[in-house]
Amino acid sequence: MKRDALTLLRDPVTMAPLELEVFEADGNEIIEGLLTCETRWYPITRGVPRLLTGDVRGDYSAFVEKHGLQDRLGFEPTSQPPASSQVETNKTFSDKWRRFKNYGFEAEHQKFLGGWFAKKFGLSSADELPGFYRQAESVLEIGPGSGFNTRFMAEHCPGPVVSIDISEAADTTYGNVGSMPNTHVVQADCNLIPCEDDTFDFAIADGVLHHTPDTRKATEAVYRKVRPGGRFFFYVYRQMGAARQFCDQYLRKHLSPLDPEACYQACEGITEMGRELSRLNATITLEKGIPLLGIPPGEHNVQRLLYYNFLKCFWNDAFDWETNNMVNFDWYHPHDAWQHTEDEVRGWLRDFGVTDYAINDANPNGISVLLRKPD
Ligand SMILES: C[S@@+](CC[C@H](N)C(=O)[O-])C[C@H]1O[C@@H](n2cnc3c(N)ncnc32)[C@H](O)[C@@H]1O
Repeated sequence: MKRDALTLLRDPVTMAPLELEVFEADGNEIIEGLLTCETRWYPITRGVPRLLTGDVRGDYSAFVEKHGLQDRLGFEPTSQPPASSQVETNKTFSDKWRRFKNYGFEAEHQKFLGGWFAKKFGLSSADELPGFYRQAESVLEIGPGSGFNTRFMAEHCPGPVVSIDISEAADTTYGNVGSMPNTHVVQADCNLIPCEDDTFDFAIADGVLHHTPDTRKATEAVYRKVRPGGRFFFYVYRQMGAARQFCDQYLRKHLSPLDPEACYQACEGITEMGRELSRLNATITLEKGIPLLGIPPGEHNVQRLLYYNFLKCFWNDAFDWETNNMVNFDWYHPHDAWQHTEDEVRGWLRDFGVTDYAINDANPNGISVLLRKPD
Protein backbone atom coordinates (compact mmCIF):
# COMPACT_ATOMS: atom_id res chain seq x y z
CA MET A 1 0.00 0.00 0.00
CA LYS A 2 1.29 3.43 -0.89
CA ARG A 3 1.21 6.20 1.70
CA ASP A 4 -0.87 8.45 -0.54
CA ALA A 5 -3.64 5.81 -0.60
CA LEU A 6 -4.65 7.29 2.76
CA THR A 7 -6.17 10.28 0.97
CA LEU A 8 -8.51 7.89 -0.90
CA LEU A 9 -9.24 5.20 1.69
CA ARG A 10 -11.89 5.38 4.42
CA ASP A 11 -13.39 3.04 6.97
CA PRO A 12 -15.80 1.07 4.73
CA VAL A 13 -18.58 1.14 7.35
CA THR A 14 -18.58 4.75 8.60
CA MET A 15 -16.44 6.54 5.95
CA ALA A 16 -14.29 7.86 8.81
CA PRO A 17 -10.68 8.72 7.83
CA LEU A 18 -8.11 6.08 8.72
CA GLU A 19 -4.91 6.46 10.69
CA LEU A 20 -1.84 4.61 9.52
CA GLU A 21 0.84 2.90 11.56
CA VAL A 22 3.72 1.40 9.61
CA PHE A 23 5.44 -1.79 10.80
CA GLU A 24 7.44 -2.57 7.67
CA ALA A 25 8.00 -0.51 4.54
CA ASP A 26 9.95 -0.78 1.32
CA GLY A 27 10.43 2.79 0.12
CA ASN A 28 6.99 4.28 -0.41
CA GLU A 29 5.35 0.87 -0.19
CA ILE A 30 3.92 -0.23 3.17
CA ILE A 31 4.28 -3.97 3.48
CA GLU A 32 2.88 -4.42 6.98
CA GLY A 33 0.91 -1.91 9.01
CA LEU A 34 -2.28 -1.06 10.78
CA LEU A 35 -5.19 1.14 9.75
CA THR A 36 -7.45 2.36 12.54
CA CYS A 37 -10.42 4.59 13.11
CA GLU A 38 -12.38 5.09 16.30
CA THR A 39 -13.95 1.66 16.57
CA ARG A 40 -12.30 -0.55 13.97
CA TRP A 41 -8.93 -1.73 12.82
CA TYR A 42 -7.70 -3.29 9.60
CA PRO A 43 -4.36 -4.93 8.90
CA ILE A 44 -2.02 -4.26 6.00
CA THR A 45 -0.26 -7.52 5.21
CA ARG A 46 1.95 -8.48 2.26
CA GLY A 47 1.44 -4.93 0.93
CA VAL A 48 -2.37 -5.10 0.81
CA PRO A 49 -4.75 -3.22 3.12
CA ARG A 50 -7.50 -5.68 4.13
CA LEU A 51 -10.59 -3.53 4.68
CA LEU A 52 -13.03 -6.35 5.31
CA THR A 53 -15.76 -6.69 7.92
CA GLY A 54 -18.09 -9.46 9.07
CA ASP A 55 -17.70 -13.05 8.03
CA VAL A 56 -15.52 -12.31 4.98
CA ARG A 57 -12.87 -10.84 7.28
CA GLY A 58 -9.84 -13.09 7.65
CA ASP A 59 -8.35 -14.50 10.81
CA TYR A 60 -5.71 -11.93 11.74
CA SER A 61 -4.72 -13.44 15.10
CA ALA A 62 -1.17 -14.20 13.90
CA PHE A 63 -0.81 -10.57 12.76
CA VAL A 64 -2.04 -9.30 16.16
CA GLU A 65 0.35 -11.58 18.00
CA LYS A 66 3.33 -10.79 15.75
CA HIS A 67 2.99 -7.07 16.42
CA GLY A 68 2.03 -7.42 20.10
CA LEU A 69 -1.35 -5.75 19.53
CA GLN A 70 -3.44 -7.95 21.84
CA ASP A 71 -3.89 -5.27 24.53
CA ARG A 72 -4.32 -2.32 22.21
CA LEU A 73 -6.87 -3.78 19.81
CA GLY A 74 -9.44 -4.51 22.47
CA PHE A 75 -12.23 -3.52 20.14
CA GLU A 76 -13.40 -6.08 17.62
CA PRO A 77 -14.97 -4.94 14.38
CA THR A 78 -18.76 -5.01 14.43
CA SER A 79 -20.02 -7.56 11.96
CA GLN A 80 -22.28 -7.03 8.98
CA PRO A 81 -25.20 -9.38 8.35
CA PRO A 82 -24.04 -12.89 7.45
CA ALA A 83 -22.89 -13.18 3.85
CA SER A 84 -21.92 -16.79 3.83
CA SER A 85 -22.64 -17.28 0.12
CA GLN A 86 -19.93 -14.66 -0.50
CA VAL A 87 -17.57 -16.64 1.73
CA GLU A 88 -18.22 -19.71 -0.43
CA THR A 89 -17.76 -17.73 -3.67
CA ASN A 90 -14.49 -16.31 -2.38
CA LYS A 91 -13.06 -19.84 -2.08
CA THR A 92 -13.43 -20.28 -5.86
CA PHE A 93 -11.64 -17.04 -6.69
CA SER A 94 -8.93 -17.16 -4.03
CA ASP A 95 -7.98 -20.55 -5.47
CA LYS A 96 -8.40 -19.59 -9.14
CA TRP A 97 -6.20 -16.52 -8.96
CA ARG A 98 -3.51 -18.35 -7.00
CA ARG A 99 -3.29 -20.81 -9.90
CA PHE A 100 -3.65 -18.40 -12.83
CA LYS A 101 -1.44 -15.47 -11.86
CA ASN A 102 -0.40 -14.82 -15.47
CA TYR A 103 -3.87 -14.80 -16.98
CA GLY A 104 -4.18 -11.91 -19.41
CA PHE A 105 -0.49 -10.94 -19.27
CA GLU A 106 0.68 -13.14 -22.13
CA ALA A 107 0.81 -11.65 -25.63
CA GLU A 108 -1.75 -14.08 -27.07
CA HIS A 109 -4.16 -13.39 -24.19
CA GLN A 110 -3.76 -9.65 -24.62
CA LYS A 111 -4.64 -9.73 -28.28
CA PHE A 112 -7.83 -11.62 -27.52
CA LEU A 113 -8.75 -9.62 -24.40
CA GLY A 114 -8.01 -6.21 -25.96
CA GLY A 115 -10.44 -6.93 -28.81
CA TRP A 116 -12.92 -8.22 -26.30
CA PHE A 117 -12.85 -5.04 -24.15
CA ALA A 118 -13.10 -2.82 -27.21
CA LYS A 119 -16.22 -4.68 -28.34
CA LYS A 120 -17.79 -4.52 -24.91
CA PHE A 121 -17.17 -0.74 -24.69
CA GLY A 122 -18.61 -0.29 -28.19
CA LEU A 123 -15.23 0.84 -29.65
CA SER A 124 -14.22 -0.11 -33.16
CA SER A 125 -10.86 -1.68 -32.21
CA ALA A 126 -8.41 -2.28 -29.36
CA ASP A 127 -6.35 0.65 -30.69
CA GLU A 128 -8.99 2.95 -29.21
CA LEU A 129 -8.61 1.58 -25.67
CA PRO A 130 -5.67 3.79 -24.56
CA GLY A 131 -7.62 6.94 -25.55
CA PHE A 132 -10.71 5.61 -23.80
CA TYR A 133 -8.83 5.21 -20.49
CA ARG A 134 -6.86 8.44 -20.90
CA GLN A 135 -10.12 10.39 -20.50
CA ALA A 136 -10.38 9.23 -16.86
CA GLU A 137 -8.42 11.05 -14.15
CA SER A 138 -9.24 8.32 -11.65
CA VAL A 139 -10.41 4.72 -11.99
CA LEU A 140 -12.15 2.31 -9.62
CA GLU A 141 -11.81 -1.32 -10.68
CA ILE A 142 -13.87 -3.99 -8.95
CA GLY A 143 -12.73 -7.63 -9.07
CA PRO A 144 -9.40 -7.27 -10.91
CA GLY A 145 -8.51 -10.99 -10.68
CA SER A 146 -4.97 -11.30 -12.05
CA GLY A 147 -4.78 -7.52 -12.62
CA PHE A 148 -4.08 -7.66 -16.37
CA ASN A 149 -6.58 -4.90 -17.03
CA THR A 150 -5.46 -2.96 -13.94
CA ARG A 151 -2.03 -2.74 -15.52
CA PHE A 152 -3.40 -1.64 -18.88
CA MET A 153 -5.59 1.03 -17.31
CA ALA A 154 -2.79 2.26 -15.00
CA GLU A 155 -0.50 2.61 -18.03
CA HIS A 156 -2.98 4.93 -19.71
CA CYS A 157 -4.96 6.62 -16.94
CA PRO A 158 -3.18 9.77 -15.73
CA GLY A 159 -4.38 9.42 -12.10
CA PRO A 160 -4.91 6.72 -9.47
CA VAL A 161 -6.34 3.30 -10.30
CA VAL A 162 -7.95 1.78 -7.20
CA SER A 163 -8.49 -1.97 -7.55
CA ILE A 164 -10.75 -3.73 -5.08
CA ASP A 165 -11.16 -7.46 -4.75
CA ILE A 166 -12.81 -9.31 -1.88
CA SER A 167 -10.89 -12.58 -2.25
CA GLU A 168 -7.20 -13.41 -2.08
CA ALA A 169 -7.15 -12.48 -5.76
CA ALA A 170 -6.10 -9.12 -4.26
CA ASP A 171 -2.69 -10.69 -3.48
CA THR A 172 -2.29 -11.82 -7.08
CA THR A 173 -3.28 -8.38 -8.36
CA TYR A 174 -0.85 -6.73 -5.96
CA GLY A 175 1.94 -9.10 -7.00
CA ASN A 176 1.39 -8.18 -10.65
CA VAL A 177 0.74 -4.44 -10.51
CA GLY A 178 1.44 -3.22 -6.95
CA SER A 179 4.75 -1.66 -7.97
CA MET A 180 3.18 0.67 -10.55
CA PRO A 181 3.21 4.26 -9.24
CA ASN A 182 -0.54 4.90 -9.62
CA THR A 183 -2.10 1.57 -8.56
CA HIS A 184 -3.76 0.97 -5.19
CA VAL A 185 -4.79 -2.64 -4.56
CA VAL A 186 -7.23 -3.16 -1.69
CA GLN A 187 -8.96 -6.26 -0.35
CA ALA A 188 -12.55 -5.12 0.23
CA ASP A 189 -16.16 -5.87 -0.65
CA CYS A 190 -17.75 -3.95 -3.50
CA ASN A 191 -20.82 -3.61 -1.29
CA LEU A 192 -18.69 -1.69 1.23
CA ILE A 193 -16.18 0.20 -0.90
CA PRO A 194 -13.74 2.09 1.36
CA CYS A 195 -13.86 5.32 -0.67
CA GLU A 196 -16.12 8.36 -0.63
CA ASP A 197 -19.21 8.47 -2.87
CA ASP A 198 -19.11 10.51 -6.12
CA THR A 199 -15.32 10.13 -6.48
CA PHE A 200 -14.22 8.28 -9.62
CA ASP A 201 -14.20 9.35 -13.25
CA PHE A 202 -14.55 5.77 -14.40
CA ALA A 203 -15.55 2.54 -12.66
CA ILE A 204 -15.35 -0.93 -14.14
CA ALA A 205 -16.71 -4.27 -12.85
CA ASP A 206 -16.16 -6.86 -15.55
CA GLY A 207 -17.67 -10.23 -14.70
CA VAL A 208 -17.85 -9.54 -10.96
CA LEU A 209 -21.20 -8.21 -9.73
CA HIS A 210 -23.11 -11.45 -10.47
CA HIS A 211 -20.70 -13.25 -8.11
CA THR A 212 -22.01 -11.30 -5.10
CA PRO A 213 -25.11 -12.30 -3.09
CA ASP A 214 -27.22 -9.59 -4.81
CA THR A 215 -26.17 -8.27 -8.23
CA ARG A 216 -28.42 -5.21 -8.22
CA LYS A 217 -27.28 -4.14 -4.76
CA ALA A 218 -23.62 -4.52 -5.75
CA THR A 219 -24.19 -2.58 -8.98
CA GLU A 220 -25.75 0.29 -7.05
CA ALA A 221 -22.94 0.25 -4.47
CA VAL A 222 -20.31 0.72 -7.21
CA TYR A 223 -22.44 3.28 -9.06
CA ARG A 224 -22.51 5.45 -5.91
CA LYS A 225 -18.72 5.83 -6.09
CA VAL A 226 -18.77 7.28 -9.63
CA ARG A 227 -18.67 11.08 -9.79
CA PRO A 228 -21.57 12.89 -11.48
CA GLY A 229 -20.75 12.95 -15.19
CA GLY A 230 -18.40 9.97 -14.78
CA ARG A 231 -18.76 6.62 -16.54
CA PHE A 232 -19.33 3.11 -15.28
CA PHE A 233 -18.88 -0.11 -17.27
CA PHE A 234 -20.22 -3.41 -15.98
CA TYR A 235 -20.75 -6.81 -17.48
CA VAL A 236 -23.14 -9.33 -15.93
CA TYR A 237 -24.27 -12.77 -17.02
CA ARG A 238 -27.30 -12.91 -19.28
CA GLN A 239 -30.11 -15.35 -18.62
CA MET A 240 -29.64 -17.96 -21.33
CA GLY A 241 -32.16 -20.20 -23.16
CA ALA A 242 -34.06 -22.98 -21.41
CA ALA A 243 -31.78 -25.89 -22.38
CA ARG A 244 -28.64 -24.04 -21.34
CA GLN A 245 -30.26 -23.07 -18.01
CA PHE A 246 -31.28 -26.66 -17.42
CA CYS A 247 -27.75 -28.03 -18.07
CA ASP A 248 -26.11 -25.21 -16.12
CA GLN A 249 -28.30 -25.75 -13.08
CA TYR A 250 -27.68 -29.48 -13.12
CA LEU A 251 -23.92 -29.15 -13.58
CA ARG A 252 -23.63 -26.36 -10.99
CA LYS A 253 -25.56 -28.42 -8.45
CA HIS A 254 -22.94 -31.17 -8.77
CA LEU A 255 -19.78 -29.17 -9.48
CA SER A 256 -20.09 -26.17 -7.18
CA PRO A 257 -19.85 -28.14 -3.88
CA LEU A 258 -16.63 -29.89 -5.00
CA ASP A 259 -13.29 -28.63 -3.77
CA PRO A 260 -11.57 -26.62 -6.53
CA GLU A 261 -9.13 -29.36 -7.56
CA ALA A 262 -11.91 -31.94 -7.94
CA CYS A 263 -13.98 -29.42 -9.91
CA TYR A 264 -11.08 -28.65 -12.29
CA GLN A 265 -10.81 -32.38 -12.95
CA ALA A 266 -14.55 -32.77 -13.42
CA CYS A 267 -14.55 -29.89 -15.96
CA GLU A 268 -11.98 -31.60 -18.19
CA GLY A 269 -14.62 -33.55 -20.12
CA ILE A 270 -16.46 -30.30 -20.82
CA THR A 271 -13.25 -28.62 -21.98
CA GLU A 272 -12.35 -31.57 -24.18
CA MET A 273 -15.75 -31.36 -25.82
CA GLY A 274 -15.21 -27.63 -26.45
CA ARG A 275 -11.81 -28.32 -28.01
CA GLU A 276 -13.02 -31.14 -30.24
CA LEU A 277 -16.09 -29.23 -31.43
CA SER A 278 -13.88 -26.26 -32.10
CA ARG A 279 -11.45 -28.39 -34.13
CA LEU A 280 -14.36 -29.52 -36.27
CA ASN A 281 -14.65 -25.93 -37.40
CA ALA A 282 -18.06 -26.88 -38.78
CA THR A 283 -21.15 -24.83 -39.39
CA ILE A 284 -24.77 -25.80 -39.93
CA THR A 285 -27.59 -23.75 -41.32
CA LEU A 286 -30.96 -23.85 -39.60
CA GLU A 287 -33.86 -22.59 -41.67
CA LYS A 288 -36.28 -22.54 -38.77
CA GLY A 289 -34.19 -22.34 -35.61
CA ILE A 290 -35.73 -23.34 -32.29
CA PRO A 291 -37.26 -20.14 -30.92
CA LEU A 292 -38.42 -21.90 -27.73
CA LEU A 293 -34.78 -22.56 -26.86
CA GLY A 294 -33.64 -19.14 -28.03
CA ILE A 295 -31.90 -20.56 -31.14
CA PRO A 296 -32.44 -18.27 -34.12
CA PRO A 297 -32.52 -19.43 -37.74
CA GLY A 298 -29.34 -18.93 -39.78
CA GLU A 299 -25.80 -20.24 -39.94
CA HIS A 300 -24.30 -21.51 -36.68
CA ASN A 301 -20.80 -22.62 -35.83
CA VAL A 302 -21.40 -26.00 -34.20
CA GLN A 303 -19.19 -25.37 -31.15
CA ARG A 304 -20.84 -21.99 -30.56
CA LEU A 305 -24.31 -23.50 -31.05
CA LEU A 306 -23.68 -25.98 -28.25
CA TYR A 307 -21.79 -23.47 -26.13
CA TYR A 308 -24.46 -20.78 -26.18
CA ASN A 309 -27.49 -23.03 -26.05
CA PHE A 310 -26.65 -26.23 -24.18
CA LEU A 311 -23.56 -26.05 -21.97
CA LYS A 312 -20.58 -23.83 -21.46
CA CYS A 313 -17.89 -25.83 -23.27
CA PHE A 314 -15.41 -22.98 -23.82
CA TRP A 315 -12.39 -23.38 -26.04
CA ASN A 316 -10.08 -20.75 -27.49
CA ASP A 317 -6.77 -21.55 -29.20
CA ALA A 318 -5.24 -18.40 -27.69
CA PHE A 319 -5.18 -20.20 -24.33
CA ASP A 320 -3.50 -23.41 -23.17
CA TRP A 321 -5.45 -26.44 -21.91
CA GLU A 322 -5.37 -25.38 -18.23
CA THR A 323 -6.60 -21.86 -18.98
CA ASN A 324 -9.43 -23.11 -21.19
CA ASN A 325 -10.40 -25.54 -18.44
CA MET A 326 -10.26 -22.70 -15.90
CA VAL A 327 -12.79 -20.70 -17.97
CA ASN A 328 -15.24 -23.61 -17.75
CA PHE A 329 -14.45 -24.08 -14.03
CA ASP A 330 -15.08 -20.35 -13.53
CA TRP A 331 -18.60 -20.81 -14.85
CA TYR A 332 -19.58 -23.88 -12.87
CA HIS A 333 -17.77 -23.59 -9.51
CA PRO A 334 -18.63 -20.19 -7.92
CA HIS A 335 -21.40 -20.47 -5.34
CA ASP A 336 -23.05 -17.28 -6.59
CA ALA A 337 -23.27 -16.75 -10.36
CA TRP A 338 -26.56 -14.99 -11.08
CA GLN A 339 -27.98 -14.50 -14.55
CA HIS A 340 -30.09 -11.49 -15.55
CA THR A 341 -32.33 -10.29 -18.34
CA GLU A 342 -31.83 -7.07 -20.22
CA ASP A 343 -35.21 -5.80 -18.94
CA GLU A 344 -34.06 -6.38 -15.39
CA VAL A 345 -30.84 -4.41 -15.96
CA ARG A 346 -32.74 -1.58 -17.67
CA GLY A 347 -35.02 -1.49 -14.60
CA TRP A 348 -31.99 -1.05 -12.29
CA LEU A 349 -30.70 1.80 -14.44
CA ARG A 350 -34.10 3.46 -14.39
CA ASP A 351 -34.19 3.17 -10.58
CA PHE A 352 -30.70 4.73 -10.35
CA GLY A 353 -31.89 7.65 -12.52
CA VAL A 354 -29.54 6.78 -15.41
CA THR A 355 -30.73 7.80 -18.86
CA ASP A 356 -27.45 7.95 -20.81
CA TYR A 357 -26.28 4.38 -21.37
CA ALA A 358 -25.54 1.76 -24.02
CA ILE A 359 -26.26 -1.94 -23.66
CA ASN A 360 -24.25 -4.18 -25.87
CA ASP A 361 -24.35 -7.91 -26.56
CA ALA A 362 -20.77 -8.20 -27.85
CA ASN A 363 -20.70 -11.33 -25.72
CA PRO A 364 -24.03 -13.17 -26.06
CA ASN A 365 -23.43 -14.83 -22.65
CA GLY A 366 -23.62 -11.48 -20.94
CA ILE A 367 -24.97 -7.95 -20.81
CA SER A 368 -22.36 -5.19 -21.20
CA VAL A 369 -23.41 -1.77 -19.97
CA LEU A 370 -21.55 1.52 -20.36
CA LEU A 371 -23.35 4.36 -18.59
CA ARG A 372 -22.81 7.99 -17.73
CA LYS A 373 -23.96 9.15 -14.30
CA PRO A 374 -26.15 12.26 -14.55
CA ASP A 375 -24.40 15.56 -13.64
C1 LIG B 1 -14.52 -13.92 -12.69
S1 LIG B 1 -13.37 -12.98 -11.75
C2 LIG B 1 -13.17 -11.62 -12.89
C3 LIG B 1 -11.80 -11.07 -12.83
C4 LIG B 1 -11.49 -10.02 -13.91
N1 LIG B 1 -12.40 -8.90 -13.86
C5 LIG B 1 -11.48 -10.66 -15.26
O1 LIG B 1 -12.36 -10.35 -16.06
O2 LIG B 1 -10.58 -11.48 -15.52
C6 LIG B 1 -14.39 -12.26 -10.49
C7 LIG B 1 -13.59 -11.49 -9.44
O3 LIG B 1 -14.53 -10.76 -8.64
C8 LIG B 1 -14.13 -10.84 -7.28
N2 LIG B 1 -15.32 -10.60 -6.43
C9 LIG B 1 -16.38 -11.40 -6.22
N3 LIG B 1 -17.23 -10.84 -5.34
C10 LIG B 1 -16.72 -9.63 -5.00
C11 LIG B 1 -17.14 -8.59 -4.13
N4 LIG B 1 -18.25 -8.68 -3.39
N5 LIG B 1 -16.35 -7.49 -4.02
C12 LIG B 1 -15.18 -7.38 -4.74
N6 LIG B 1 -14.74 -8.36 -5.56
C13 LIG B 1 -15.49 -9.46 -5.71
C14 LIG B 1 -13.57 -12.25 -7.17
O4 LIG B 1 -12.75 -12.42 -6.04
C15 LIG B 1 -12.83 -12.40 -8.49
O5 LIG B 1 -11.49 -12.00 -8.42
